[in-house]
Amino acid sequence: MDDVEALTKIVRDEKIMKNISNGKIWSINRINKFIQWNMNDKNDPYFGIFIRAKLIGIIGMYDTNNIRIFINKSGKGYGSESVSAYIKHMNLDEVYARIDDDNIVSRHMFEKLGFTYIKNDGDVAVYRYVKEYAE
Ligand SMILES: CC(C)(COP(=O)(O)OP(=O)(O)OC[C@H]1O[C@@H](n2cnc3c(N)ncnc32)[C@H](O)[C@@H]1OP(=O)(O)O)[C@@H](O)C(=O)NCCC(=O)NCCS
Repeated sequence: MDDVEALTKIVRDEKIMKNISNGKIWSINRINKFIQWNMNDKNDPYFGIFIRAKLIGIIGMYDTNNIRIFINKSGKGYGSESVSAYIKHMNLDEVYARIDDDNIVSRHMFEKLGFTYIKNDGDVAVYRYVKEYAE
């Protein structure tokens, strides 16, 4: 399976996407736009998360400073490892995560990584990470 096929499988999986954005799986058109945008945007691309050269997820930023990750192999520590590596690699001093209220796994993961709950924005829990507090 190549990377595009692997990405397509991930972003068209209802279980993975139910907590992302509007909760809908991505259309083929959206996937193509995402790939194009990533190839053209040199400043703020999404990164692929790979296990032995197989794409298992992606991580990046939206609306300037909100981190977003989705992977298809949950519960093995890959999420935590990816977020930590991403923050370090991008040298981020401050970043936010907007997580659906009922997304217990994601909330737990971000809390474990030093993100602090700030407030609710409707059904979304807003978390903030500040490097100097987390270290
Ligand atoms: C959220 C997501 C990235 C987490 O990835 P992951 O690889 O499962 O994360 P980790 O394994 O590093 O950490 C998950 C933690 O939640 C815990 N967990 C798993 N299921 C749980 C549950 N039902 N209740 C409470 N905690 C749970 C795990 O034990 C682990 O904690 P620990 O390290 O203290 O044991 C992944 O599940 C995902 O892509 N979900 C779909 C998209 C999404 O929700 N993205 C987040 C929005 S930004």
